[in-house]
Amino acid sequence: MNTGSMGNAGPKLPRDVRVHVNVDEQCAAAARFVVGELASALARAPRASFALAGGSTPKRLFERLVKEHARALDWSRVHCFFGDERCVPFDSPDSNFRAANESLFEPLAIPRASIHPMPAEALDHDAAAREHERELRAFFGASEMFDVAMLGMGEDGHVASLFPGEPALAERERWVVHVETRAKPPPHRLTLTLPAFARSRTVFFLLGGESKRDALHRVLEPRDDADRALPAARVTARERIVWFVDRAAHP
Ligand code: 6PG
Repeated sequence: MNTGSMGNAGPKLPRDVRVHVNVDEQCAAAARFVVGELASALARAPRASFALAGGSTPKRLFERLVKEHARALDWSRVHCFFGDERCVPFDSPDSNFRAANESLFEPLAIPRASIHPMPAEALDHDAAAREHERELRAFFGASEMFDVAMLGMGEDGHVASLFPGEPALAERERWVVHVETRAKPPPHRLTLTLPAFARSRTVFFLLGGESKRDALHRVLEPRDDADRALPAARVTARERIVWFVDRAAHP
């Protein structure tokens, strides 16, 4: 099933959904997958790039990477980015940077030069989005982007800070935009766009729990244009999209 966005010329990607009996199994498998992808990237080039998801789910994966794969890679060569960020201070409990810093960057001693936070504390959110886009374009050039991009999914099918029916979802040119939303607090966020995610070599989703079941079913088995228009259904990638889900979300 091509989970490309409507009208997107994204490649026709085979559907790869991996259902695990519980969160532990799910995160163990996802951690092995991430390390495999990053190791392949480091075999091809001096550095790899990994875009992290926000929210609460990634913490379990990060902890698994630290516990079981700290020596699997030269993590200093893995450049970490964010799929989205809340416009809050970096020490806020709502900060995706803070969560990743505490559970991944510090435990793995990833150097600051390999970490690329979104400018969440800037007062001018649109200028901050444009500044981060300049950083991404300078880092990646015009050709490709993340070796691996990780995404969660909300109960409404949102990914990153791309919410159903909101303007950022329709962005076709910019890679980073500011959104103001009532769909999920905090309201002000910076997010990568669908064209940005589409430049990733590999995208993988990590999600679980019964609360995600309906949205996941709609995305994987779309019945109408409304289902096909859900943000998670419109994500594309250059080579593959893999779903790591648990039984509670995918009975
Ligand atoms: C954010 C996230 C968001 C998240 C989903 C799932 O910054 O809020 O990027 O897109 O991935 O809302 O969140 P949970 O993992 O907490 O269920």
